[in-house]
Amino acid sequence: MIHYTQQDIDALNHLFKINLINSCSGYKSANLISTKATDGTTNVAVFSSVTHMGSSPALFGFFLRPNTVPRNTYDNIKETGFYTINHIQETFIEDAHHTSAKYSEEISEFNMTSLTADYKHDFPAPFVRTSPVQMAMKYVEEYPIKSNNTILLVGEVQDLYFEDNLLQKDGFIDLSKGKIAAINGLDGYTIPILKERFGYQRPKENMK
Ligand SMILES: Cc1cc2nc3c(=O)[nH]c(=O)nc-3n(C[C@H](O)[C@H](O)[C@H](O)COP(=O)(O)O)c2cc1C
Repeated sequence: MIHYTQQDIDALNHLFKINLINSCSGYKSANLISTKATDGTTNVAVFSSVTHMGSSPALFGFFLRPNTVPRNTYDNIKETGFYTINHIQETFIEDAHHTSAKYSEEISEFNMTSLTADYKHDFPAPFVRTSPVQMAMKYVEEYPIKSNNTILLVGEVQDLYFEDNLLQKDGFIDLSKGKIAAINGLDGYTIPILKERFGYQRPKENMK
């Protein structure tokens, strides 16, 4: 096997290093986070760090890069308290990826891609139309990560929407039926296929 020590990693060329380290944690969720500024400008950007934090209450966290440059998603969430999380589907991975481009705050990525903003039931932030799983989120709290100046932002699910055919009888959402993407590294997109589900695991009585 190839072996990199911490010293080797530190000494790597920047681009090689970010590709390597962003890939080695495994496949990541592929989401578009959408917000609306108080002046009405909409924003949408790709995030691969959305993670389940608990089901009661239904909490999700995601990591924001350091605020060394303007971060429209963060600013809008802090101003309004609301955002949406929208799963990325195979049909729009290229446009979804393009939302990572650094547009200034007065330009909406919805106007620079074929993605369409959609509003539901007076929720203040836009959803991404045609996204198979969409969540309305309310800001709860945030934690500064001192070791690298990122921020862990925690939000609570207010509303959950998903396409009818994804739901199984026990509440499981079959993402593969929605052709929902996962992210490998910083720029690789894959469409996973569900292989198997297993029952709740209990300790074995005896090894042999
Ligand atoms: C595949 C991919 C995943 C990303 N994941 C994150 C992430 O988890 N957190 C983050 O702060 N930025 C992430 N980014 C970068 C943002 O998409 C980018 O900074 C974007 O311009 C943010 O938009 P905003 O300034 O409108 O908030 C990611 C970019 C790509 C291409």
